[in-house]
Formats: sequence, structure tokens, C-alpha cells
Amino acid sequence: MKYIVKNLPEYFKFQDKALNSPEEFWGDIASTFVWKKKWDNVLNADMVNADIKWFEGGQLNITENCIDRHLKDRGEETAIIFEPNSPTEKAQHISYNQLSVEVNKIANVLRSQGIEKGDRICIYLPMIPELAYTMLACARIGAIHSVIFAGYSSTAIASRVNDAACKMVICADGSYRGTKEINLKSLVDKALENCPSVESVLVIKRTNGEVSMQSNRDFYLEELMQETQTICKPAVMDAEDPLFILYTSGSTGTPKGMVHTTGGYMVYTAHTFANVFQYKEKDIYWCTADIGWITGHSYILYGPLLNGATTIIYEGVPSYPDHNRFWEIVEKHKVNQFYTAPTAIRSLAKQDIKHVEKHDLSSLKVLGSVGEPINVEAWNWYYHHIGKERCPIVDTWWQTETGGILISPIPFTTPTKATFATFPLLGIQPVLMDDEGVEQEGNLTSGNLCIKKPWPGIARTVWNNHQRYKDTYFSAYPGYYFSGDAALRDPAGYYRITGRVDDVVIVSGHNLGTAPIENTINEQTIVAESAIVGYPHEVKGNALFGFITLKHEISSEEQENLKTAINEAIADQIGPIAKLSKIQFTVSLPKTRSGKIMRRILRKIAANELDNLGDTSTLLNPEAVQAIIDNRTD
Ligand code: WT7
Repeated sequence: MKYIVKNLPEYFKFQDKALNSPEEFWGDIASTFVWKKKWDNVLNADMVNADIKWFEGGQLNITENCIDRHLKDRGEETAIIFEPNSPTEKAQHISYNQLSVEVNKIANVLRSQGIEKGDRICIYLPMIPELAYTMLACARIGAIHSVIFAGYSSTAIASRVNDAACKMVICADGSYRGTKEINLKSLVDKALENCPSVESVLVIKRTNGEVSMQSNRDFYLEELMQETQTICKPAVMDAEDPLFILYTSGSTGTPKGMVHTTGGYMVYTAHTFANVFQYKEKDIYWCTADIGWITGHSYILYGPLLNGATTIIYEGVPSYPDHNRFWEIVEKHKVNQFYTAPTAIRSLAKQDIKHVEKHDLSSLKVLGSVGEPINVEAWNWYYHHIGKERCPIVDTWWQTETGGILISPIPFTTPTKATFATFPLLGIQPVLMDDEGVEQEGNLTSGNLCIKKPWPGIARTVWNNHQRYKDTYFSAYPGYYFSGDAALRDPAGYYRITGRVDDVVIVSGHNLGTAPIENTINEQTIVAESAIVGYPHEVKGNALFGFITLKHEISSEEQENLKTAINEAIADQIGPIAKLSKIQFTVSLPKTRSGKIMRRILRKIAANELDNLGDTSTLLNPEAVQAIIDNRTD
């Protein structure tokens, strides 16, 4: 890999090259991969029209870069360590050779099921090796994977499957998560009642629980694999052919299917993985995210495998069977780079410190944080107790849309500072904008975080809706990518991400749009209107507060039942992660004169910042604010 930063002068030197000669910079990096045909142009981008292309004319298959090219020298090295939910089940070490066999066989199965290049396949699997195998098998034959986090409900599966018109669903019979066993196949069955595009379902056995199999539609993958060849010729893909779709919440409307393409995503995730984690041969790398999120796509699967790394897939949760599980796994597999989310750090920091102290964590070299702002207490705990003041913390800022990390310290190079994501990675030019679209110059300033130049990992479109892509990311500040986050720049030029500026709330690191939750609540016949806002929560970072008006009064007992019914409906239609932590029924919601709900004021009330409500006199119904405050129950 080229341009791996070793010290600050080198960082500035490489950054200069990346920003001033991006074609040469990214072309040099891309040359270290296997291409079937070299590109004609490194970059061809129009940020005003949201038309971005990297390595146009180039042809490749990403699985040859993730797998085949490692086989000659390191085929017997471990690609994936699978750590099962139960500590009594043996961990598996899957070599690059084994990975190759599994992926090729599954790819042949997909072809024999009639899957062709460009077809969409929905993958709904727990964190088991087959999740990695099936994603790579799709990529092998040029099918576009759309992974849906296995905590999502049937309704969420159906809407995503229909949006992309998936031809196939790959799922497991069930999943283990801590003490829970979940029947995933039955959720898929329910979803597929409304998914006409799906022709077949491949089922992977994990729990061996009871499932119903529809004849001619449902097949056990294991059985189909028995007869297949172990070699599958990789499809030749254009650099800009889609590799996958991954859905993310927006502030309005349905989830957006972000489309990532092949060449640029490959180059960007591989390069950022190598720099941000300073991965060295034989290191053991562990990212605790779920592969169902972008963190898992880029930094459990593609980034590490592109570097020939050993990556851990952990099936379970941090608290099972005990709160020492993460540290036990670090000790057991001698983890060198550990990447997790602030919400996990906060919940583990609340436990007895003996859970940490009884384990040997001396293998650790780099600690990572991702998904939400990390507060100073959590940062300090992580630094002192887990890293023993030896390990730099890389606070990595990025998004589903960005494909890979954009702002992060480079370990052993960038001096870290609690709560700061510090400097942009190579080739990234962040700018802070005021509301009028004026770039804020110099340091010690703040604004809306935009990116000025294209980078290879950026999503290219929203599936089937390029206009929405353009409107969401390129219209607030024409010519710039707008992230939806605000940030500040300190006197040294370090960035600190201060949070979302739209109606997206990050709960336990999960990106939730408030509009779909409100729609679900409003479907209850007695509900007149609702407004959801986030408020600070000790462990989750943010939690959801629902302010709800009813069509008529009900008893307090009925109110309690309604709260339960609302949360059940949310869990059912969106997923348990979107449940409300607090609900307050109120006579009316504060509105502007044009009838828009003033969420800004509700946010303040939910956060208990009552002396800081701002001007409420221009509201249509200022009395609503006082009524809500007077009736607060907690
Ligand atoms: C949003 C993106 C990045 C992959 C996982 C989440 C927030 C992410 C940080 C960070 C502060 C962060 C932002 C961003 N976020 N990383 N290091 N510091 N905030 O991907 O679900 O697309 O969410 O997560 O608000 O916009 P996502």
C-alpha cells in the first residue's frame, strides 16, 4: 500500500499531493491492486450535478483483490476469526484458502439459481462467517448485495427488498444474541408476503430451530453447495458498477438505498484501513460493529480483507455471558486493533472495573471509536483503562454515504485530543459553512460540515432516486457534499463533530430518522399528532422522546397501555432500536404560524434546558410550551 503515514511532516506532504494532484495520488494507490483493465480517467466528477466517477474505464473484480491475490503467499493465513455468541462454542479460524473455497462455491450456487450480474440480493444474516461469504459471493458474480441488519423487523425488510426489487433473499434459520434466540426465517416469511420480486430464499442453518420451507422457493444453502464446483470465474466489473446498496435513515421519507460502486470503494476502504489502524502483517484486528452497518461492510469485511488482514467476526453482544466478554475476547485472540462505538464504551465503563482488570490487554496497539461523538469521560476511561495510556484512540468520523473514514487521527502520528476526530484523512478537504453558504476561514470557528472535493469512497447515488441524492447532499451548498453534521475547528485545526443539524437522531450509534417513527405512531387511531426528538442519554448518547397529542382524553391506565402499544408498533415496523424511552401526551404541540411543529423547542424541553428555550412569542400557540413543561412527569 502506498502513502502510509508515519509522521506528521509526511502527513502534510502526502496531504498536499492528495489535494493538489488527486489523480496522481489515487492512481498510485489504485495501481497496487489487481485490475483486468486499467482505467482511462482517475477522476471525473461534477459536484454541482452530483455526478461522480472514479477510475472510469477500469475493470476489476473486488473479490480477486480481497481473496485471490493473497492465496499464493498467504493462503494458509487466517482471514476471519469467528467468535461465536457462546464462549463454550469453539472459535473458528478461516484461512484465505478456505474463504476462497466457500465464496467460490456459494457464487456458483447463486449462478445456478439464475442470479446474474446486476441482480439485487438481500442478505439478512446474523454475525456468522456466512455473512461474509455470501456478500463476497455476490461480488464474485457481480450481483449487488443489500445487507439488512438482522435486528430489523419484517416491515423494514419488505420495504427495503421492494425498493431494490431483490430477486433473492439469503437468511439464517435463526440467530443467537446473548441469551436470546431469534427466528429470522419467520420474519423473512412474513416480509415476503409482500415482496413480489423475490424468486428464491437461501437458508443457512445456524440454530437448527424449526422453520417452514416453501417448496420451489426456499432452499438450504448447505444442500445446494454439495454439488457445486470450487472455482467460480469472477465477473468482470466496470469500476463504476454498483457493489452494494445499504440503507440509511434520512430526516424525511423512507430510508435511502445508498449505492457504493466497485473501484473507488475498494481503493478508499483499503487505503483508509491501512492508515487509520496502522495494520501490520500478522496483527489481529477486531471491529465490534455489525456487518449490517457500513462500519462492518468497510472495516470488518472489505478494508481488512483487501489488506490481507485477520479480521474477527463476533456473533454476540458485549454483555453476554458477562460484562467482561469484550476483554476476554481481546485476551483470547490477542487483538491488536480494537474498534468499537462510544455507546459500548459507556455501558462497559459503568460496570465493575474488575471485568477489565482480570484480563491481559497488552496486545492492544490502537483503539478506535465510531458512530457518534465520544464524550470526554468515555474517551478518558477507554484511554486509561483499556489502552493503559499506551494506545492512541482514533475517533473516526464518517457516514454510510462516505463509504470510509474521512476524519481521524493517524495513530502514532497525530497527537490525540479527547473528543476530537482531529485531521482529515488524505485527500479529504472538510469545510465549515455558515447558514448563508460562506466557508468559514481559519481556525477557532464552527459551522455545517461539508466536503469540498470528491473522494473515491463516496456513494454515487440513492438507488432509483438520483434526484434525492442530489437534493439531500448537494443542494444545501451547491458544489459541496453536505454531511448533515455540525463541527468546530480548534486553534490547531483539529475537527470536533458536534452532532446532527437535521432530524436524524443517533441512538446507541444507530442512525434513526424521526419522520418514519412519527408516521408509525400516527397510525394509532387515537393519535392526532406526534413529534419525536432526541435528548442526551448517559449510555445511548441520545434517546428518543415522543410528544404526542390524542384525539380525545383517556385515563392514565389507558395512557400506559397506549405507550406500550406505541413501542410495540415501532419495534414491529422499524425495529426495537427505535423504541421511545420517554413519551408525554400533551394537548397540543408548539407550532410556527405556518403550522410547522417547533422541534427545536421540544428538544430543549426534552433535554431539560428550560431556561434556554429561545423566543417562543412568535409561536402560533405559545401556551402549548408552558402546558408541556407543567405536565412533565419526569
Ligand atoms: C452519522 C453517520 C460512520 C459509520 C457508522 C455510522 C455520526 C459517526 C462519528 C464520530 C461524531 C459521528 C455523525 C454521522 N458519527 N462517527 N466519530 N464522531 N459523530 O454511520 O449510520 O451513516 O451515521 O454518525 O452524526 O453523520 P451512519
